[in-house]
Amino acid sequence: MIVRGSSGLGEATIRTIVERGGKVIIFDINEERGEAIAAELAGSVVWPGPTDVASEESVTDSIDKGVEKFGNISGVVNCGGIGMAQKIVFRNGEPQSLDIFTEVVRINLIGTFNVCRLIAAHIIANIKKSAEKEGGVAGMTLPMARDLAGQVRVCTIAPGFFGTPMGNAIKDTILEKHMIHPYRMGNPSEFAHLACAIIENPMMNGEIIRIDGAVRLGKL
Ligand SMILES: NC(=O)c1ccc[n+]([C@@H]2O[C@H](COP(=O)([O-])OP(=O)(O)OC[C@H]3O[C@@H](n4cnc5c(N)ncnc54)[C@H](O)[C@@H]3O)[C@@H](O)[C@H]2O)c1
Repeated sequence: MIVRGSSGLGEATIRTIVERGGKVIIFDINEERGEAIAAELAGSVVWPGPTDVASEESVTDSIDKGVEKFGNISGVVNCGGIGMAQKIVFRNGEPQSLDIFTEVVRINLIGTFNVCRLIAAHIIANIKKSAEKEGGVAGMTLPMARDLAGQVRVCTIAPGFFGTPMGNAIKDTILEKHMIHPYRMGNPSEFAHLACAIIENPMMNGEIIRIDGAVRLGKL
């Protein structure tokens, strides 16, 4: 299984998959974290070197290195990305930087699609070869699931606020205003639990699943 992200939600998902006997290839740009996790979980986790998820060359190269190590890839959990929640116009009248918006779209949207399409092609080619068993982002879920029907399942997890390095940066602002029940940030292990439930349950397909404690997202 490929997990995109070596911090926060991605790291929790890697650890949960390995605990359950799975093997993971990490797709992330953070070399220090990737190498440290792979060293700690050696044998079950491969660090193929930094992967820029929005680059075809980089993702293809990392897929090849993962296949070399494990022989086969059966799926991907897209967790990595960046979070830049800002107002469109700041209080001082300045507009939000277009560069930041462009980078979020490049990594979170284009990166997710890029990884999905390359992994899906790999899985389908593999199914054909071995004749073995079948093995905005939310808007892509159902079209992708229908397009890849019979070969690959596609689900989206829509997390609320989780206590990761990214989530903790806005913890104080959001807790008081937004949380309902449970009245706390989510634990990355709860995200990982859902990711594994989707992997393990063959009826889950084409679905967008909220995991957010009924959070109300108003103004940040
Ligand atoms: N934590 C939350 O509350 C929360 C809620 C909703 C959505 N999300 C989204 O989930 C994703 C993961 O969040 P997190 O809290 O685990 O964040 P995190 O900062 O802990 O981890 C993000 C990981 O993505 C990697 N990354 C960044 N750019 C990359 C690139 N170009 N190629 C490959 N890897 C790259 C980083 O190196 C890091 O390891 C983000 O896209 C975030 O917007 C998070």
